[in-house]
Amino acid sequence: MGLLIKGGEIVTVGSRMRGDIYVEDETIARIGRGLDAPPGAEVIDAAGKMVFPGFIDPHVHIYLPFMATFAKDTHESASIAALIGGTTTYIEMCCPNRNDDALAGYELWKSKADGKSACDYAFHMSVTKFVRETEDQLTQIVKDGTSSFKIFLAYKNFFGVDDAEMYHTLTLAKRLGVITTAHCENAELVAQLQQHLLAERKTGPEWHEPSRPESVEAEGTGRFATFLENTGAAGYVVHLSCEKALNAAMAAKARGVRLSVESVLPHFLLDKTYAERPGVEGMKHVMSPPLREKKNQAVLWNAVARGFVDTIGTDHCPFDTEQKMLGKDAFTNIPNGIPGIEDRVNLLYTLGVKAGKIDLDRFVDAASTRAAQLFGLYPRKGTIAVGSDGDLVVYDPEYRGTVSAKSQHVNCDYNGFEGMKIEGRPSAVTVRGKVQVRDGKFVGEHGRGRMLKREAIH
Ligand code: URP
Ligand code: ZN
Ligand code: ZN
Repeated sequence: MGLLIKGGEIVTVGSRMRGDIYVEDETIARIGRGLDAPPGAEVIDAAGKMVFPGFIDPHVHIYLPFMATFAKDTHESASIAALIGGTTTYIEMCCPNRNDDALAGYELWKSKADGKSACDYAFHMSVTKFVRETEDQLTQIVKDGTSSFKIFLAYKNFFGVDDAEMYHTLTLAKRLGVITTAHCENAELVAQLQQHLLAERKTGPEWHEPSRPESVEAEGTGRFATFLENTGAAGYVVHLSCEKALNAAMAAKARGVRLSVESVLPHFLLDKTYAERPGVEGMKHVMSPPLREKKNQAVLWNAVARGFVDTIGTDHCPFDTEQKMLGKDAFTNIPNGIPGIEDRVNLLYTLGVKAGKIDLDRFVDAASTRAAQLFGLYPRKGTIAVGSDGDLVVYDPEYRGTVSAKSQHVNCDYNGFEGMKIEGRPSAVTVRGKVQVRDGKFVGEHGRGRMLKREAIH
């Protein structure tokens, strides 16, 4: 059965037009004005609404064994939350740790998502060590359609790689034509600063930021860029949080390093005073890189507006209050992470577009199109064009609501953005032509999502 979306304002990067979209056999078949619905087609009246390409979250954690516990979501809960918030594709970090076999880890992550996700998904493959079998294993994983790597310069002895391992990963990535994403913080400095602070009995969540200051992130960003420069590989800094790191990234871009930049929702809207709140309230806002001084928020918005920050993801990584309490005696034991997959689009639209910080074009680009282009999904995903997948968000700019843990679908007992007002939300969300969400409710098919096979395009 076909689907006709009628009379909406169709918004893609570089174009806005009022018109109709007809989806057949999962893909967009026609775009125009006054299209007729074939017999039996479902019709959505989009008058007064905008129609966006399905949004893409390029950085999420769903299955994640980390810091003595597991992130709370399943692929079912995370994908439903994603869809309700307008995200129709997510890219999950596949994160076996240093002691795990990479290929076994990859199969494990795939099995966790298979048949469970209600929206489409892909993986970034983490390289957490580089040993004899790594090259063959990664080559096999890329052939399987996972054409991006992830390295952590942080998290010493767990996910973290040393400089030699980074070099070998980037050399292989260059040869295979894949992009490498990187968490950029100096692991050794973080470890030393943590011990120093704990020795001074500075144990609360407010000490998390001083243990990983901006300069530590800037060093990681600059070092990653230098390794890209000397290997010729393509790279992508994940969750860049502050001006110092941005300056390191921009200096690299300016000298021709093949570097793209992602920032994530919390760093635009929250600042380090949230993590300074007493007890578990502070712990809820512990993530890495940490929440920064407020002045960085304007820097990040401006960098998105000017295209220096390419994409906006979430780094969705929910731990509930009981899990956060693992760190009650030492901030170094607080599971790092915060949910965001459900709220990203509405908060960026409200506090970015409506607040005049970014325009609609950059909003669609940063929250959908650029990620599709960088990660080998374009034009199947990330745009509205004949032949693209029928992943569409009919967006109601008149909706008014409030973000709250009470109404969220993410499997977590708090929301780090609690109480923030939203001005707009999806009124219908489709995945390959099937309506999965209507007005904040999941009405679709569980497990509809497919793993997306991606070409190595770099
Ligand atoms: O605090 C964070 N970011 N948790 C998830 C792991 C990571 O570093 O992305
Ligand atoms: Zn990270
Ligand atoms: Zn992450």
